Amino acid sequence: MSQPNEGQDRLDYNETADITEVHASISREHAEPQAGTMPIPMWLGVLCAGALCWAGAYIGVFHGGFSSKIYNEYESAPSAFFPIPGGQQGGGEVAELPLLALGEKIYGNTCAACHLPSGMGSSAVPALAGSEWVDGSEYGEKRLVTLVLKGLQGPVSVKGGTFNGQMPSWESRTNREIAAVLTYVRQSWGNKGTGEYAEAQIKAAKKEFMSQAGAWKIEQIKNIPVDAKLEGAAPKADAPKADAPKTAEQKTDAPKSAEPAPGAGSFDIAASITAGKTVYMQSCMACHQITGQGVPGAFPTLAGTEFVNGDQRRLVAIVLKGIQGPIKVNGAVFATGMPNPELTFPILKDDKNVADVLNYVRNSFTNKNDAPITPEFVSKCRKEFADHAAQWTEQELLNFPPAK
Ligand code: HEC
Ligand code: HEC
Repeated sequence: MSQPNEGQDRLDYNETADITEVHASISREHAEPQAGTMPIPMWLGVLCAGALCWAGAYIGVFHGGFSSKIYNEYESAPSAFFPIPGGQQGGGEVAELPLLALGEKIYGNTCAACHLPSGMGSSAVPALAGSEWVDGSEYGEKRLVTLVLKGLQGPVSVKGGTFNGQMPSWESRTNREIAAVLTYVRQSWGNKGTGEYAEAQIKAAKKEFMSQAGAWKIEQIKNIPVDAKLEGAAPKADAPKADAPKTAEQKTDAPKSAEPAPGAGSFDIAASITAGKTVYMQSCMACHQITGQGVPGAFPTLAGTEFVNGDQRRLVAIVLKGIQGPIKVNGAVFATGMPNPELTFPILKDDKNVADVLNYVRNSFTNKNDAPITPEFVSKCRKEFADHAAQWTEQELLNFPPAK
């Protein structure tokens, strides 16, 4: 073993006898790492160039004019620069949507978050369905437009409930968008609005209330005369326009649906089924699911059940009043209870909507029933069961027709 001082007097080598140190100094003699310019590998250069080109093209196509509307699918139109293959979704075509359909879209991704897709609101947000500010005693064109343009804050009473929230301003939206969403809101969920808002009306309102900063208080809105109209209304929808082909959704929501429906003989069941799908999505889907299969243990299926495919009167009765207590459906027992649907979904107060949704249910989820349920039939049942306030029990449904 070496002594710590052993090598100190061997000045010529200045080394110790420790063999490991000798090895270490030898291994330090190995080649130094190289320094100097080395070309970037070809593949890396190509990759970077590719990424840059892609980024440039992306900005070129999707810059949206570098305006805030870039996130607005109705206004930024990538398809204009860059035809998206098979892209019916292109902004250009969306802009061509009929006003009501555009309104439905905007409602869905703007208002529905708070006012809900059903327009029924919640305990914190007032309903738009049947609201006096949209459709009732306090409704005025000018009031509604400016309320939505500027927003609303502070206490407001809607349909007997008091709300004290904050409704944002929508003024940054285009005139066409506001016109569309208000047209939709006024015509949906049983609201009785007719015709369309014109872009010129929204423009007029934006101008008239330009000086109003911040959201309205409801007292301020009340200072606007309730029957105040906005300039620039579109000419009243004339006959040919009213007959123009409409989508099924429009048919359900449009007040024209209230017109006397044809008798069963000439009843257009296909149209009724299409219209019924919309009603289903609004008023049954939450429980019975989009597939009609329900949720095991909670909500029964609507596929192939005797209640759906059996006696029409009983089926109408179920939707008019709901069900309470346990009931056996396709061999499984459910006891959740089905609250009277029309209490939650006022659209079901319209006989046509009830007929449509049942024609849809009776012809979906593998069900097939050619015999239609007509609005007249629903109306007859409604009168017949007018005195029956409670939800049906299973026994009553099995004994159908119930004693009057
Ligand atoms: C962030 C949630 C929110 C969004 C999004 C929203 N609202 Fe509201 N809205 C409210 C609240 C909260 C009130 C009640 C305000 C108050 O208490 O003063 C209200 C009130 C209203 C009212 C008056 C009261 C009534 O129920 O009739 C109308 C009309 C209305 N909103 C329409 C719309 C429309 C149209 C849209 C979509 C463009 C929309 N709202 C989007 C929260 C919202
Ligand atoms: C809130 C949830 C809910 C909604 C909304 C609802 N249902 Fe039901 N439905 C139920 C439940 C739960 C039952 C089983 C009854 C029970 O538990 O007593 C049921 C039973 C039924 C039945 C009888 C059993 C069967 O499956 O054949 C029919 C028919 C029916 N619902 C149709 C409808 C239609 C049509 C709508 C829309 C207009 C609707 N329901 C909306 C929860 C709901």
